[in-house]
Amino acid sequence: MTVIVLMGVTGCGKTTVGRLLAERLGAVFAEGDAYHPPANVAKMSRGEPLTDEDRWPWLDALARDIGRWLDAGTSAVVGCSALKRAYRERLRAGRGGVRLVHLTGDPELIQERMAARRGHYMPLSLLPSQLATLEPPGADEGAIVVDVAGTPETIAAEVLRRLRQADPVTS
Ligand SMILES: Nc1ncnc2c1ncn2[C@@H]1O[C@H](COP(=O)(O)OP(=O)(O)O)[C@@H](O)[C@H]1O
Ligand SMILES: [Mg+2]
Repeated sequence: MTVIVLMGVTGCGKTTVGRLLAERLGAVFAEGDAYHPPANVAKMSRGEPLTDEDRWPWLDALARDIGRWLDAGTSAVVGCSALKRAYRERLRAGRGGVRLVHLTGDPELIQERMAARRGHYMPLSLLPSQLATLEPPGADEGAIVVDVAGTPETIAAEVLRRLRQADPVTS
């Protein structure tokens, strides 16, 4: 496995944990937010949830890089909310070699962390719509699910442990 998609609602810790995880794995970290066209960022900044139509070009741009990393055998950790099954399918684009890690947690805890976050366009008001949109991965999606109550270090260590358990040879 070479590409990890670290998914979950806004504020769950994708960027924070993803950077750590990438460092531990010697992998590239890709910030999903950076793939949004400016119109999407403007919309979210106004507190308006994105529609599927807004999301397809974003997901396709990410999928192109995921495909490149898979072809090159480059290890990468991608922080991307990937809220719906259809979004995850779009990211995978029919390829093997992508492992999902879902960061979950108490919405109140996530809200508190978001409230303390600085310099990010995502308003607190979008958390409920993200939670409503979220389709947790089904058993067939092979996701590793980790709760975010701990520190970023303990969460990253837990993800690593579970990755090694799932894939002892390559991870
Ligand atoms: N495990 C954690 N413990 C404490 N604070 C955290 C933890 N994970 C993330 N944070 C903080 O919560 C906020 C949201 O995390 P972030 O990584 O930006 O989430 P996401 O990328 O999923 O939107 C940030 O201010 C971050 O520093
Ligand atoms: Mg982020």
